Amino acid sequence: KRHLISAADLSRDDALLILDTADELAKISERSIKKLPTLRGRTVVNLFFEDSTRTRISFEAAAKRLSADVINFSAKGSSVSKGESLKDTALTLEAMGADAVVIRHGASGAPHRLAGWVRGSVVNAGDGTHEHPTQALLDAFTMRRRLGPLDGRRVTIVGDVLHSRVARSNVLLLSTLGAEVTLVAPPTLLPVTVDSWPCEVSYDLDTVLPKSDVVMMLRVQRERMNAAFFPTEREYSRRYGLDRDRVAKMHDDAIVMHPGPMNRGMEIAAEVADSPRSTIVEQVANGVTTRMAVLYLLLGGADLGGEIQ
Ligand code: CP
Repeated sequence: KRHLISAADLSRDDALLILDTADELAKISERSIKKLPTLRGRTVVNLFFEDSTRTRISFEAAAKRLSADVINFSAKGSSVSKGESLKDTALTLEAMGADAVVIRHGASGAPHRLAGWVRGSVVNAGDGTHEHPTQALLDAFTMRRRLGPLDGRRVTIVGDVLHSRVARSNVLLLSTLGAEVTLVAPPTLLPVTVDSWPCEVSYDLDTVLPKSDVVMMLRVQRERMNAAFFPTEREYSRRYGLDRDRVAKMHDDAIVMHPGPMNRGMEIAAEVADSPRSTIVEQVANGVTTRMAVLYLLLGGADLGGEIQ
């Protein structure tokens, strides 16, 4: 495959190949080998039109650990402020020789449009409320490391599903990998199309928690929200927040996830976010390894076994 735009583009075999490659890369890095020469001479452009901490930094770290040259572009401070379009911005970067363009954009569908304009590979790093496929891959990688194969595992995704590209990509990828996903959200924070998604829906977190192997909390995205559709913060936390009392209902091996950034004290209590069940910091570390695997596979890097320095 040339691009990674949607988790729906990945077959089970594709997804397992990425996760297995990430496992290989993790093993190499556990042997204190920090840098591989496999993408030497290739250029990765990080094209960020929306703010990001984790995704932007981890794509940069991933490309550098594979010895690619990295160009970081953020819309702030660029000629986008003078009205330059996405297409002209992309063609400018293309002229500088991008082999891969990693794009985050506020408009759903921007990576798909970009793929029609550039010769290199396009990786979706989050587009509007649509998808964030590498987040779903790093989440699946994290679950697999903690719990083993995902077939039959029960994953509960809680909160602002309506605005969450993370939820959509996770539902698609996890169902491809054989997990059973349940979404828990207030009715006003579910998309109208949710009936066609490959998952169950519940409005009662307390009945779902004891059956869950994974509880993934979503950030409440107030910046994308019409206040009229949102309950008060206190009401939201009371019904959908993950606090110590709710965690006590989970089984002993179940894990707590959050893609970040978190609203501590709202969708997740600070003591839960920092507890041993929480994989939140592991998710960030696994993001680098998983994104290395994606860049390696899309750009056809040299064989890992023979290329270790
Ligand atoms: N999880 C995630 O996408 O975080 P950033 O917005 O910081 O990249």
